[in-house]
Amino acid sequence: MRYPAIAIPPMAIGLVLLCAPALAQDDAGQIAFNNACRTCHTVREGDNRLGPSLSRVIGRKAGSLPNYNYSESMKKVDLVWDKQNLDRFIANPDAVVSGNNMKPYGGIASAEERAKIVAFLESAGR
Ligand code: HEC
Repeated sequence: MRYPAIAIPPMAIGLVLLCAPALAQDDAGQIAFNNACRTCHTVREGDNRLGPSLSRVIGRKAGSLPNYNYSESMKKVDLVWDKQNLDRFIANPDAVVSGNNMKPYGGIASAEERAKIVAFLESAGR
């Protein structure tokens, strides 16, 4: 038996193909964040949990949210969370802010995984 031809405009197929990689990348960032950070952080503004909200964290001064009770080390450190500092921090928090209170957290050895999370944080909470 012959199936009727399904009419999908070629343009629509093109669009799906174009969008799929971008979507997959966003998902990967979200998943990496969920796996490694979401136990303690969200990206909603003002939503502090065990850790401070990470909404708009890129470009933010470390230890600067008014409604979060940071460790003395985090309050005192003179640092802005640019992409590089953030990458180093999630690789090994104590190497960047010694005596910080982000515990228990083992660090992420994979540069690829860290890059996904940093990219996710760059686009999240805006
Ligand atoms: C076990 C809970 C926990 C996990 C998991 C965790 N954090 Fe944290 N995070 C904290 C706590 C607590 C602080 C506050 C540290 C302090 O005051 O010294 C913090 C602080 C931070 C800060 C500093 C924010 C600011 O306002 O200066 C950043 C950035 C951060 N975390 C990013 C991450 C990222 C990204 C991940 C995942 C890769 C992650 N954290 C995983 C608990 C956690």
